[in-house]
Amino acid sequence: MSTPNAVTAVAGTNIALVKYWGKRDVALNLPATGSLSLTLDRLGTRTTVAFDDGDRDRLVLDGAPASDAATTRVSAFLDRVRARAEIARRALVTSENTVPTASGLASSASGFAALALAATRAAGLAVSPPELSALARVGSGSAARSIFGGFVEMARGARADGSDAVARPMPEGDGWEVRLVVAITASGPKAIGSTAAMTHTMRTSPFYDAWLAAVPGDLAAARDAIAARHLPSLGAVAERSALRMHAAALASDPPIIYWNAATLAAIDCVHTLRARGTSVFFTIDAGPHVKALCRAADADAIAAALRAVPGVTETLIAAPGPGARVVEER
Ligand code: DP6
Repeated sequence: MSTPNAVTAVAGTNIALVKYWGKRDVALNLPATGSLSLTLDRLGTRTTVAFDDGDRDRLVLDGAPASDAATTRVSAFLDRVRARAEIARRALVTSENTVPTASGLASSASGFAALALAATRAAGLAVSPPELSALARVGSGSAARSIFGGFVEMARGARADGSDAVARPMPEGDGWEVRLVVAITASGPKAIGSTAAMTHTMRTSPFYDAWLAAVPGDLAAARDAIAARHLPSLGAVAERSALRMHAAALASDPPIIYWNAATLAAIDCVHTLRARGTSVFFTIDAGPHVKALCRAADADAIAAALRAVPGVTETLIAAPGPGARVVEER
């Protein structure tokens, strides 16, 4: 098989139901705990990698040349692919987020998953899915999970080289008709990126150790809930994992506060809907948006209720989606 000149891959973002927050090794980006997520069908990234004779890597993001910081992060990632393939060529990387850019939902998870797949394939490498997951993890921890579709568990791993810090799909969850209703509560970049925020939490939060201690139990409960397809159990884990992650971040010095008034109002909306009998549960990542986990049949009504919350500017309904895949080779 000859090496293609340009490879395009797509990946969906994923939302963690048991959060990753903290690293056991910063250089290899090894997580301090395992995590568990759902890969989504919408909200993803489409990335083309073409190795060429340029004198440096170039990154075009959503139609415009990317910042130096973003280009450097992608270039460092490509260095790993080049070292493995024993090539020196630079690349043109063209990436588009299939999500409203202003929504603040553009994600490093789908970005590095799509980049890992497109870059390895364009470099002529044959890489197994677990190896691809480990590679994507170096770019961004959550990206390791977007290699796979549906429910996915990411292992903390124990090895120093990170070869066992990889994600695996959970086929026991396949076909479960759940949805995530995303309530957008603000626009623009978030206050502090997740990489810096989790490092700051590790260094300064007195609650960080308590956070770490809680994760294995949450992972076990989430696995059981998915095997049993019991939404209230999975939802309870998702809410407490998100709240504990945010509690650890809030207790940092200086504090990390991702929430705004609409975040709290959306949480209240979810709890009100639940009190009235709808099986719906929230999770929140490193930003102010609220994501509501529910059954497919309830998603439209939940989206309408969240859309009516003051400060919520938009809602999106996402379904479980497939893992990263190549869509074009030239
Ligand atoms: C809150 O994967 O963005 O979304 O590995 O430093 O790139 P880096 O962090 P990142 O962190 C994700 C944090 C989270 C929780 C999660 O997705 O598990």
